Amino acid sequence: MDQGTVLGETEIHVRTSLDGDGAGHDWWHVDRVRRLARRLAAAEAADPFVVELAVLLHDVADWKFHEGDGEVGPRQAREWLAGLAVEPRVIDHVTEIVGGLSFKGARVPRPMRTIEGRVVQDADRLDAIGAIGVARAFAYGGWKGQPIFDPGLAPILHDSAAAYWSGTTSTVTHFDEKLLLLKDLMNTDTARRLAEERHRFLEMFLARFHAEWDGTA
Ligand code: ADP
Ligand code: NI
Repeated sequence: MDQGTVLGETEIHVRTSLDGDGAGHDWWHVDRVRRLARRLAAAEAADPFVVELAVLLHDVADWKFHEGDGEVGPRQAREWLAGLAVEPRVIDHVTEIVGGLSFKGARVPRPMRTIEGRVVQDADRLDAIGAIGVARAFAYGGWKGQPIFDPGLAPILHDSAAAYWSGTTSTVTHFDEKLLLLKDLMNTDTARRLAEERHRFLEMFLARFHAEWDGTA
């Protein structure tokens, strides 16, 4: 099977699996991340085939929706690619990226070994900030049933995936626990530049949010 066919089959598989997800992991998230990742891959001379496969498969079985089980996603990616008789070297690489991607707390380092992994991680993180990031955070918060904001909740910089997974938060608190930290966690120069602008938008949004919350605007 040639690379174009593998990508096409994988796209159909992913679109079907993610259809109807209301928690910010819909197909359009994958589609946006793919556009960003293609751009970053070209700038960083990363292998576009590995990058694109990892993007397509990265959220099919997110650990947050499997009781915090981080093994389900990589395992499903591996099984899918093996079914298409993809080269073992590519399967290992894509599986490694899918397994290492997800944010698991401010104090939990998630280093990526290869440039392909760094590109996918940057693209996924860029889609968590800016205007899209704001929209996704509130979509996720609504799905979780958490309040939009609770001034009594202090942000926590979690030092384990378990603490991050089981913590109580509000969506605006999540900005301090994750979204505002992402700009400094970007791996590539291109992503860092895009992140600066998206980060500024988060700050504008928060300033306005708090002014309205306090009744001063
Ligand atoms: P990733 O796995 O891509 O690192 P996540 O899957 O953790 O990111 O999150 C998906 C989206 O939901 C992101 O935009 C993220 O910021 C948002 N999100 C995750 N946890 C929360 C939360 N507790 N409150 C609000 N938004 C959240
Ligand atoms: Ni994602």
